[in-house]
Amino acid sequence: MSNQDMADSDWWRQAVVYQVYPRSFADHDGDGVGDLPGITSRVGYLKALGIDAVWLSPFYPSALADGGYDVDDYRDVDPLLGTLADFDAMVTALHDAGIKLIVDIVPNHTSNRHRWFREALASAPGSPARQRYHFRDGTGPDGSEPPSDWPSMFGGPAWHRVPDGQWYLHLFAPEQPDLNWDNPEVREDFVTTLRFWSDRGVDGFRIDVAHALTKDMSDPLPSAPDLTEQQQPLVGDHPIWDRDDAQEVFREWRKVLNEYDPPRTAVAEAWCHPSRRARYARPESLGQAFNFDLLQADWDPGIFRTVITRNLEASAESGSSSTWVLSNHDVVRHASRYGLPAGPDGCGVPAELGQDGKGWVNTDGTTPQLDPERGLQRARAASLLLLALPGSTYLYQGEELGLHEVADLPGDVLQDPTFERSGHTQKGRDGARVPIPWTREGSSFGFGSGGAHLPQPRWFAALSVQAEQDDPASTLSLYRAALAVRARLQGGESLVWEDSIPNLLHFTRPGGWHCLTNFGAAPVELPAGEIMVTSGPLHHGLLPQDTTAWVVAAH
Ligand code: GLC
Repeated sequence: MSNQDMADSDWWRQAVVYQVYPRSFADHDGDGVGDLPGITSRVGYLKALGIDAVWLSPFYPSALADGGYDVDDYRDVDPLLGTLADFDAMVTALHDAGIKLIVDIVPNHTSNRHRWFREALASAPGSPARQRYHFRDGTGPDGSEPPSDWPSMFGGPAWHRVPDGQWYLHLFAPEQPDLNWDNPEVREDFVTTLRFWSDRGVDGFRIDVAHALTKDMSDPLPSAPDLTEQQQPLVGDHPIWDRDDAQEVFREWRKVLNEYDPPRTAVAEAWCHPSRRARYARPESLGQAFNFDLLQADWDPGIFRTVITRNLEASAESGSSSTWVLSNHDVVRHASRYGLPAGPDGCGVPAELGQDGKGWVNTDGTTPQLDPERGLQRARAASLLLLALPGSTYLYQGEELGLHEVADLPGDVLQDPTFERSGHTQKGRDGARVPIPWTREGSSFGFGSGGAHLPQPRWFAALSVQAEQDDPASTLSLYRAALAVRARLQGGESLVWEDSIPNLLHFTRPGGWHCLTNFGAAPVELPAGEIMVTSGPLHHGLLPQDTTAWVVAAH
């Protein structure tokens, strides 16, 4: 059941937040791209699912160089997705259904079509217009070498040269120039944006790449060739990632967000070292931060327990509540991750997606075999475990249907800049962004009347909403049941580990709520009480391998 008290300023602490990637959710006007009226038309589905809030990935005008994370205008709606009036109608429909709305804010970079960047290109080196970004002269005798050795996250150098010879910084795609957060005009403009959406009724914000806003731009620039390996520094003086001085920005934002009633929430996307996450989550900073530790964890009871314990301690330290997430638009869907052998990087994900379009391949060239049933069984068990944890859980559209990654998209349909910039060695993230199947048949499985912007596989039919909604054994039924029971059982934020046999994770929450997950081969006895939900069938009353159960103990 959703419908938390809309005026409760703590609503986010134990909320279930459902991520909508708008271009792939529901297409109302039949142009092949999901849109805001499509979301509005599915509010009934979201209410029946029982979520508390939607997190909406960027819906702003964008050329889609990076799936909308290249924003042309922070205070408008992409015409392909609708209008500001459509946005208002969506907010009203969500609020009427008791569902809050969190929108994505992308402060690290604009798009190269943003008014400011066009002005910067048309202006001279050293001009105020260029100082909203990071323009630099190159190195080498004729300035033809990049200003530093910093690499882009999508491959290649993080610098792009413009016709007058200067270079600009882009930690992501060249179409995503990094903003200069030392510039007061940049800071003021984002405050205007936060107010713009807060005034329109938005309940909170997800802050994209919060850990990269400020950089050490001293002259000469410090060397940082291994950015990708150093994303998790332990102290806040790395040239780029997770610098302490970024917190000044967030403290200012927090003051603005607290002017609203209830205060607007904010959650940091900060891929920082777990020991530093609390900085973003403190009440005087953003208030909450994503914890990606379980998303990166092997399916292993010891690792799960350590991660859970550590994160609950960290959230107690910051005064925030923990966040839990297994899937989002940037990673391989967890049903597939858990069906693949643990990767060489030890985080249980396939190393890379095959470039030949045929499926999976490791970085070492070997081809892992996907076991889809096992993957889904573990995914269901993991999701049910997550939903029993104190804190807020972020779900990604389609996981409630048990969708797997679409691993075999051919190269010519891929949209993720990673594919081109890696020289076609990495497929990127499109396999998790294929439009949702609503019906068993029909154009694009009910996504819209005009096809889908990424091709959907035939196996989507059996995982469509229509196929699952009346099947008590479906993943959709599991999520609906779990969310309804969670809303009833959710109370204090504490968790107690129970003594248990190896391979079993067993904890209790206030009110006699037991959660047990069996990672081992031997079936396990459940405590006496009422069995509320199980992620799969019990075996002669026992909890089988890769299965989670919620039990409310008999008093
Ligand atoms: C975040 C987004 C990702 C995007 C990147 C650059 O990590 O989740 O999708 O590519 O930021 O904006």
